[in-house]
Amino acid sequence: MSADALATAVIAAAGSGDRLGAGGPKAFVEVAGKPLLAWSLAALEAADSIGSIVVAAPPGNEEEVLAAAGSAAVVPGGASRSESVANALKEVGSELVLVHDAARPLAPSRLFDAVVSELAADSDCDAVVAAAPVADTLKRALAGRVIETVPRSELWAVQTPQAFRAKALREALDAEAETLAKATDDASLIEAAGGVVRIFGWDEPNLKVTTPADLAIAEALLARPSAFAR
Ligand code: CTP
Ligand code: MG
Repeated sequence: MSADALATAVIAAAGSGDRLGAGGPKAFVEVAGKPLLAWSLAALEAADSIGSIVVAAPPGNEEEVLAAAGSAAVVPGGASRSESVANALKEVGSELVLVHDAARPLAPSRLFDAVVSELAADSDCDAVVAAAPVADTLKRALAGRVIETVPRSELWAVQTPQAFRAKALREALDAEAETLAKATDDASLIEAAGGVVRIFGWDEPNLKVTTPADLAIAEALLARPSAFAR
């Protein structure tokens, strides 16, 4: 964090981690020596573009997050990811906000800074999202039968971090709980409202820890940061 920082960071950390099946919230699961959430917190604290951090915590675990979160503010999460982001957004006073999932512990400070500065530099744009080019061949199928092979040159696998003009994100998140529950990221709500979203291409590892296999891969990469450009 720096004095001339541009953005407030929101960390979505309130999920239950059902698919990981660790018996408790995913944010607290140890990976390469520290809780999953601590990796994102440390990288955001070290980012020059970030002035403050708000964490959406698993409901009932706010105290535990507060104890670990240094100077970050902590709010209870909601029933869906987008509701958690909306709760955290109430604590945001800056014009720009950077949303990141605690489930992505590999994202480095320079990725956060790059996404924020791309948005700051383009006043026509409402959001900038980190995204990887798709490496696999993609096919569309119905009932298991392939209908077509989809050209992938225009396709991106979208990740977090995602940077937003706070006003645009606030308006996009002012929706029915059902709409928020269906949104798999925040940028899609901006798109649905006709906003301008830009891709920031990122092909370094930034996997989302969803399953035990993901956790093993993240652990291997975080334990050997020299093996990739963190
Ligand atoms: N998240 C959140 N609030 C929710 C649900 C999810 O803040 N109500 C956060 C998670 O903590 C995670 C990110 O959104 O950092 C992406 O969600 P996901 O990977 O699906 O995590 P979980 O919802 O915890 O996992 P699962 O779906 O397996 O229960
Ligand atoms: Mg989930």
